[in-house]
Amino acid sequence: MTRVLLIGSGAREHAIASALTRSEETELYAAMSSRNPGILRLAKEARVLQITDSRAVADFAKQSRIELAVIGPEAPLVNGTVDILKELGIACVGPTRRLASLEGDKAFCRELLRKHRIPGNPFYAVFTDPNSAEDFLKIAGSVAIKPAGLTGGKGVKVSGEDLATIESEIAYVKEVFSRNIGGVQKLLVEERLDGEEYSLQAFVDGNNVHVMPLVQDHKRAYENDSGPNTGGMGSYSDKDHLLPFVSERDLEASRQIMTDVVQAVKNDTGEEYRGILYGQFMLAKSSNEEKPSPKLIEFNCRFGDPEAMNVLPLVSEETDFLVVCQKIAEGSLSSRHVSFEHKATVCKYLVPSGYPEKAIAGEAISVDKEAIGGEGALVFYASVDIKDGRIVTSASRTVGLVGIADSIEDAERVAENATKHVKGQLRHRRDIGTANLIRKRIEHMKSLEFNSALTTSVPVRSQ
Ligand code: AMP
Ligand code: GLY
Repeated sequence: MTRVLLIGSGAREHAIASALTRSEETELYAAMSSRNPGILRLAKEARVLQITDSRAVADFAKQSRIELAVIGPEAPLVNGTVDILKELGIACVGPTRRLASLEGDKAFCRELLRKHRIPGNPFYAVFTDPNSAEDFLKIAGSVAIKPAGLTGGKGVKVSGEDLATIESEIAYVKEVFSRNIGGVQKLLVEERLDGEEYSLQAFVDGNNVHVMPLVQDHKRAYENDSGPNTGGMGSYSDKDHLLPFVSERDLEASRQIMTDVVQAVKNDTGEEYRGILYGQFMLAKSSNEEKPSPKLIEFNCRFGDPEAMNVLPLVSEETDFLVVCQKIAEGSLSSRHVSFEHKATVCKYLVPSGYPEKAIAGEAISVDKEAIGGEGALVFYASVDIKDGRIVTSASRTVGLVGIADSIEDAERVAENATKHVKGQLRHRRDIGTANLIRKRIEHMKSLEFNSALTTSVPVRSQ
């Protein structure tokens, strides 16, 4: 048996726990910030603690004689939990603090790409004081304003979507510094890109990048991509492991960016990146380009949430996920260790009413697992706790429901049908994975390609 510590207690970690415990060799220990009923059922022992308290996590690991640790969320990685666990001789799936800067410091990430001439950066500028950012905004066009540090996916604001006027852009810049949003007194202003986004997650053993099926997440709170950004409301993946608007060529270009980044951090730091690397990309045209190509929106040093729920249930029968994790940590993962089933998936998140701005927390919910299973769907618990024997909501996402089928449309139906078996003050986006929304995605990409064809075919005449 291998004693494995899983850190984190969201739906992503529930999906990781399920994948790990499919291996009979796994003896699972869980360090959680709240009692996730799904993980509790799979773990031999669980402890509720502050997961960003690296010392408390390390003590639990020592007492439980842990051999391998899998770190789910970004905060413990950026905090240096891996550095501490490694000192104790524990193998880890997750980068050290220094390399977790790829996610923890968006400026570090952009500068790395620039320095190594790796494609994928939009135009951007980094600011450490509000006044120079303000001067810049006065001459810039449409932008994305991004606190450089961690904000749980909710810190980015985009002109025309979240920020209607130059005054609101300046006000947000001031707020980032005065409220220390992201925690590092630094922000990026990037050119606003227009395109479709996709998530490429990969197992990285220090040198090799083994990609998982592509997934598209839906960040906006409400249907038709309206409302504020959230941690992600749901996601889908396709049978061929691509997406309806992403070609094999785009995938290869994105994979190459990730491979180059893994080499670049090794060259610059002498350290190997061993863990999950998740590139959030947008197929978009930079202002000096003729055609859309993969642009890096950001890197995450962990699985995506919800994206982990799409890909982990597809890990094939022949793949032992525990072995995959061990090989990542050892630096010796080969492509023969890992494969995924060719199925489509749709994940829908049920979230508390009012999420993300005024989420109603502490409400009891009921989850009819048998009925959900009867629909052919999977259920993953997210930010819930157990109070007086009942499952209660927190201010974050509640339950992820996943349908798996031969087409996205069928998987959507499975996930949607399962939603009626979860009762409580919850809502979800009905449009995720529907044929209608996917058609819009494809048409959006086509219109960008068409517009670029127009721009390039019109000859420029000097007067
Ligand atoms: P992030 O926290 O970096 O993942 O960004 C959150 C969301 O903001 C992304 O999913 C995009 O939809 C949007 N976004 C980030 N950067 C840009 C950009 N340069 N142009 C347009 N939208 C962006
Ligand atoms: N899918 C968004 C995230 O995991 O950051």
